[in-house]
Amino acid sequence: MARILLGVSGGIAAYKSLEFARLAIKAGHVVRAVQTPDSVNFVGKASFEGITGAPVLTSQFERDPAGGAFPDQQRPDHDPISHLELAANCDVYVIAPATANTIAKLAYGMADNMVTALALSCRKPIVVAPAMNNDMYLNAATRDNIETLRSRGITVLDPGTGELASKGEYGIGRLPEPSDLLTATVRAIARGEVPFAPKSLDGLKMLVTAGGTREPIDSVRFVGNRSSGKMGFAVADAAAARGAEVTVVAANVSLARNADIDYIDVSTAAELESVVRAEFVKSDALVMAAAVADFRPADPEDGKIKKAGRTGMTVELVATSDVLSGLQDLREPGQVVVGFAAEAGEALLGEARRKLESKGLDMIVANDISEPSIGFESDDNEITLLVEGCEPEHPPRGTKSEIANVIVGRIESLVRTQGDSARV
Ligand SMILES: Cc1cc2nc3c(=O)[nH]c(=O)nc-3n(C[C@H](O)[C@H](O)[C@H](O)COP(=O)(O)O)c2cc1C
Repeated sequence: MARILLGVSGGIAAYKSLEFARLAIKAGHVVRAVQTPDSVNFVGKASFEGITGAPVLTSQFERDPAGGAFPDQQRPDHDPISHLELAANCDVYVIAPATANTIAKLAYGMADNMVTALALSCRKPIVVAPAMNNDMYLNAATRDNIETLRSRGITVLDPGTGELASKGEYGIGRLPEPSDLLTATVRAIARGEVPFAPKSLDGLKMLVTAGGTREPIDSVRFVGNRSSGKMGFAVADAAAARGAEVTVVAANVSLARNADIDYIDVSTAAELESVVRAEFVKSDALVMAAAVADFRPADPEDGKIKKAGRTGMTVELVATSDVLSGLQDLREPGQVVVGFAAEAGEALLGEARRKLESKGLDMIVANDISEPSIGFESDDNEITLLVEGCEPEHPPRGTKSEIANVIVGRIESLVRTQGDSARV
């Protein structure tokens, strides 16, 4: 059973919405209808009230005798603001028929009647079913408005093609049949896509490195490290959940991936460095969570080194270049750069502070790798955050996603501060 809020605007197809309401109730749902003032020229309130068994409102200033409750709900003992209460109580808001005029108002965020005000305040799936004359539907203004609604996460149904309301008229613009409208409504509830709500990191481009690099000894063996990529992936997920556009440079990570994030796979420190340099210039923030090899075999062999006839082997290692230090020449004012320091025991904070300063970082996340229950491969972590000019912060131990949220929250405030100083 779903609570379906039905918004009716002023088109001839309004009569089909009565049938939609009737079918929905027959299928076990409860329905409340609201109407635009113009729509009552087509179908009066009494018809919708009769079918839904609930009052119909056309204006935000009208008192709702049901106090925003659906027929299956108790009326609250106070009079709530109807357009907020109905939006909060429904499971889905279906605007059918949606006139060209109402669609335009929705695209512009107008709230001048009950139908439009509800669309603005509703954080449940919204389904819009356009119905109008062929030329009105194909008009560039209507097309653009529909695209705008779709880009905001509103489901806009394609109208049917066939005979239209005016005599002899044929084309696209028919309201879908009530049973199809009901199917689309139930699907929209199941998908659960709600209209776009602004998020705190909207528009921010974040680059995150994750995992551990592998430096070849020959074509089968490598020098690697124990980093699983869990912390970096958790940071990326937390930033994406706040609306950031995230790219992850993944070094040998075999974890599940997030469809909202772009991943670039790399293997060696040199590959990671080259991708990071190319992506950094497009980013507002960089989080270097990957464990990048400090040394690599000087002269990796092509093919597999044979064991036969050898009692041992010496692999000469040479230092890799430092990715973070190397980015300083590319760095623009306002870009936030965060590093990770994995060190053991008491040396941790001193070493982390040294890296923070020598690499010109805005923040460093320090991890004590001498503590076996946290860090590499584990699901939990405990960190200390060092920010230039601030006292160390020591958030409580938590899962990597909890810790990632703390880190991203701190990055968010750094982005705001940096953005403000870059604008000065
Ligand atoms: C007979 C008649 C039929 C109409 N049918 C439609 C229609 O199917 N679709 C539409 O977008 N507008 C239609 N209109 C125009 C709308 O009623 C008009 O734009 C109105 O202002 C819409 O108001 P509303 O969106 O607030 O309900 C029709 C107008 C008349 C007079």
